[in-house]
Amino acid sequence: MSDIAFLLNGTQVTVTGTSPTLTLLDWLREERGLTGTKEGCNEGDCGACTVMVTDEGGSRALNSCILFLPQLHGKAVRTVEGIGGPDGQMHPVQEAMVAHHGSQCGFCTPGFVVSMAVAHKDGATDHDDRLAGNLCRCTGYAPIIRAAKAAEARPVPAWMSDDLRALKRGPAPFAPATSDALADWYLAHPKATLIAGATDVGLWVTKALMDLPDVAFLHGCRDLQQIARTGGDIRIGAGVTIQALRAALADSHPAFAELLRRFASEQVRGAATIGGNIANGSPIGDGPPALIAMGASLHLRRGAERRTIALEDFFLDYKKQDRAPGEFVEALTIPASVPDLACYKLSKRFDQDISAVCGCFNVTVKGRKIASARIAFGGMAGIPKRARTVEAALEGKAWSEETIRAALPLFTQDFTPMTDMRASAAYRLETAANLLLRYYHERTGTKVSVLEVEA
Ligand SMILES: Cc1cc2nc3c(=O)[nH]c(=O)nc-3n(C[C@H](O)[C@H](O)[C@H](O)COP(=O)(O)OP(=O)(O)OC[C@H]3O[C@@H](n4cnc5c(N)ncnc54)[C@H](O)[C@@H]3O)c2cc1C
Ligand code: FES
Ligand code: FES
Repeated sequence: MSDIAFLLNGTQVTVTGTSPTLTLLDWLREERGLTGTKEGCNEGDCGACTVMVTDEGGSRALNSCILFLPQLHGKAVRTVEGIGGPDGQMHPVQEAMVAHHGSQCGFCTPGFVVSMAVAHKDGATDHDDRLAGNLCRCTGYAPIIRAAKAAEARPVPAWMSDDLRALKRGPAPFAPATSDALADWYLAHPKATLIAGATDVGLWVTKALMDLPDVAFLHGCRDLQQIARTGGDIRIGAGVTIQALRAALADSHPAFAELLRRFASEQVRGAATIGGNIANGSPIGDGPPALIAMGASLHLRRGAERRTIALEDFFLDYKKQDRAPGEFVEALTIPASVPDLACYKLSKRFDQDISAVCGCFNVTVKGRKIASARIAFGGMAGIPKRARTVEAALEGKAWSEETIRAALPLFTQDFTPMTDMRASAAYRLETAANLLLRYYHERTGTKVSVLEVEA
């Protein structure tokens, strides 16, 4: 096995002979004594463990508790100890946190400071979004947001630029460099675990305490990270992160991009891939319902064989997908624009929460009639699923509130949802129907977002 080499707070480190699923957080705290990076939840939820990771694509704030060391090969990592200057100078966001009283017990502060330093480096001003993945129990967010705003005008300190050219490194360990190499390797190791962003797999290790003896990381396959616009379609590689997808589709698919804004947090979106979001087969993933409503196709590859299926056909049953041993998700294709799409995510919290129900609607009206309807839900069944009875009841009918209301009871024929800690079955059925009504109201000019509605 080759060494894992990366820059840590500006200095090269080389790690040899480690388990591929050692987390950066454990390594920083236990092997390097860098205890500024805190462990709160150890499952990607609280941001106490946030570090800055820089590669050719720029800098990202990521949760080190669900980052495995091989994912850092060839990159630069800055912990809170490396956010200040080499001579003890404070970073502008640190000075602002002091000036605006942004810290009380201080446990969350290192994570906030790192997230704020990354946002500051990017020139970002969407502080609510940037900090939604950092939880603070005692200070309250107002002073922290005031600090982030106050630091906006200050220049990025010179010490924050990491020169990756200075890094001496061999081949990436456990990480094929192309999808061709991945296809060959996976065919020969069909029982192995593929790891893309590790925002799911990370929890198998930190929470389920699983040993994963045979793994391959996908982040080295640059060809899986491309987004290509061809004719009327957009092909999205499986390795595209949610963060990159949100940015790429902001203009062409605003409803989907807005849904992705509420996908976990900045730290999770910077690591999580759309391929992982589909391949994990979760019934409450946010990508699949929206993509199914758009009419996405899924491209699968096993060795040299490739096949393309409708995305909804990939989900067979709870935790059962149409994927053969040694087969992986290569890409998906969506239409270049889906003007009628709307996506509604219902969760207990607005930010950084998993959906109780996610309803996605794509109803096309021609003249005054409904020409086609694609409606897909997460959280309503063991898989992401279309509401085919409702769709059939709408198609060909007049585009009117009467038509919509007549279809509402039919959700009970499409779905038999369960009751769990996120929502009751009754809540799910009632809100699914209400979301269709909401869609009608939105399309006919009423403001429906909680961000827009005013008393
Ligand atoms: C705090 C937190 C909040 C979250 N919030 C949300 C949320 O709001 N909405 C949501 O939808 N999800 C959420 N998730 C779940 C998770 O982030 C997503 O499902 C994510 O898209 C998984 O992608 P990944 O690249 O990290 O997958 P990984 O963890 O790397 O892999 C997930 C699964 O997919 C397989 N896999 C990955 N890539 C491929 C491929 N190309 N081909 C075949 N198999 C593959 C892996 O083997 C594994 O079985 C959250 C997770 C966390 C930790
Ligand atoms: S420790 Fe909570 S996100 Fe990592
Ligand atoms: S300052 Fe105590 S948790 Fe944020």
